[in-house]
Amino acid sequence: MNDSRETIDAKAFVAGYPIAHSRSPLIHRYWLSQLGIAGSYEKIAVTPEAFPDFLDALRSGEFRGGNITIPHKEAALKLSDVVDPVAEAIGAANTLWVEDGLIHATNTDETGFLANLDASAPGWDACDTAVVLGAGGASRAILHGLCERGIKQIYVVNRTIERAKELADRFGGAISAHRLEALDELLVGAGLFVNTSSLGMDNSPVPTLGFDHMLPHSVVTDIVYVPLKTPFMLAAETVGMRTVDGLGMLLHQAVPGFEKWFGVRPEVTPELRNLVLSDI
Ligand code: ATR
Repeated sequence: MNDSRETIDAKAFVAGYPIAHSRSPLIHRYWLSQLGIAGSYEKIAVTPEAFPDFLDALRSGEFRGGNITIPHKEAALKLSDVVDPVAEAIGAANTLWVEDGLIHATNTDETGFLANLDASAPGWDACDTAVVLGAGGASRAILHGLCERGIKQIYVVNRTIERAKELADRFGGAISAHRLEALDELLVGAGLFVNTSSLGMDNSPVPTLGFDHMLPHSVVTDIVYVPLKTPFMLAAETVGMRTVDGLGMLLHQAVPGFEKWFGVRPEVTPELRNLVLSDI
């Protein structure tokens, strides 16, 4: 952990609707306290109707910035003044900061996903083929990240094939769209499987997959983190694959926002992980 004792009395927030479930305050307040920064981070419930006015009021500078969560990520992108290329490509913003009266927007889901894999499964990106289940907002950020890392072949698999096709068209090149029925077959010879769908959340049933047909020591990861070990991860572990849980992505995606607002790059530590785990 950085030992800076700077006093930066900045205010930040997370805005969404509903917002009660958000664990972002726990994460950011932990870093504020650990780093001795006199800033604040609060939860704000903002309805979709109220969101444009909420964003407009940010230009006054009361807040240094904040996180945007469901259902405002697309609106935040459209209503911000300066959008970085990552948020533009993903089509959604989850992190804002205010500079000279202008609202800047980025998306940290991609860096959160990549940083989590880098920290937990070094060398994961040496594989040629990845299989991504799901075609929602989280999938867009992850597909963009996998393309950035140069994964040669990415199969995006979704219950609603049209949504998968939209993503293949959007990002092109390495990505192809597939139906759910093809999932098991697509795993053969793959080196990475990512679940970005809500399958397995709260221990809901998932299809049985042949993780043993993936390359030896492949990586199976999930953005679901309740339960921490999802049914996909448990199945992959039984055949000796490396697994990475989704809690790390949540923690890592928070890093760039904190650095923007409070001027210090925080660290994702085991202590922080345990703190958030105790709240799940
Ligand atoms: P997010 O923005 O978090 O990715 P989302 O846009 O609601 O959330 O996407 C959820 C993903 O989970 C979608 O890919 C969805 O498939 P559809 O596009 O067909 O809706 C997938 N999903 C949710 N429940 C599912 C289920 N029971 N079986 C298969 N896929 C499911």
